[in-house]
Amino acid sequence: PRSTLDRSSAASDVYKRQDYVYNLNLTISESQIRKCVERLARLIQADYKGEPLLVVGALNGSFVFLADLIRHLHLPIQVDFIKVSSYDAALKSSGDVRLHHGVRTPVAQKNILVVEDIVDTGFTADFIRKYFENEGAASVRICTLLDKPSRRLTSVTAEYVGFEVPDQFLVGYGLDYNQQYRELRAIYSLEGVVDSGGRVTEEI
Ligand code: PRP
Repeated sequence: PRSTLDRSSAASDVYKRQDYVYNLNLTISESQIRKCVERLARLIQADYKGEPLLVVGALNGSFVFLADLIRHLHLPIQVDFIKVSSYDAALKSSGDVRLHHGVRTPVAQKNILVVEDIVDTGFTADFIRKYFENEGAASVRICTLLDKPSRRLTSVTAEYVGFEVPDQFLVGYGLDYNQQYRELRAIYSLEGVVDSGGRVTEEI
C-alpha cells in the first residue's frame, strides 16, 4: 500500500537486476541505518525496563530491520511474524486490509512491539494495532524504520520512528520493487525503470 506506482504498468521483464545502478539514488546509507537502529533499540530498552516483549514483524518488508533491531535489544524477547494484505490495488485506498496469517505465539497480556519497514497510509499499522488490542494484548506499540506522514490516510502514529521520509519510492533494506531489491544494504530512491540498454522505460 505504500506505493503511488502503478505496478501493473511496469512489465517485470524490462526491470533487469543488473540495471539498478542506473536509476537508484542512495537515500539512507548503511551507517545511517546502523546508528538509527542502535538509537531505536536504546529507546525501546529504556521504555520496557527489562520487561518481556513480543516483537512482531509485519511481513514481508520488516524482516531485515527486525533482524538488526532485535540483536541490539537486551530484553527478554520473543519474535513472531504477521502478514496482512490488501486484496487488490483498488481496495488499498479504501483501507481494506485483511489478516493473511497471524502469530502463533499467544498474545494475551503480552507487551507487543510491531515492527514495520514503513508506515505510509497507515492502514497496515492501524489494522495490526487494533488486531492485537482485540486479542487482549497488554500493550501495543509500533516501531517503524521509515515514516511517510505526507501519505497518511489514518490517524495512526508509530511510537518509534527511524526516519521521516518524503513521498519517494524507496527500496532496499527490506523494501521492494516487485519483490526485488530487498537485499540491498542501504535505502535508495527508485526514479525510473530502464531497459538493458540503459534507456528509461518508465519514470517513477
Ligand atoms: C508495505 C510495508 C508496510 C505497508 C505500509 O507492505 O511493508 O507493511 O506497505 O503501507 P500502508 O501504511 O499504506 O499500509 P506491502 O503491502 O507493500 O508488502 P511487503 O511488506 O511485502 O512489501
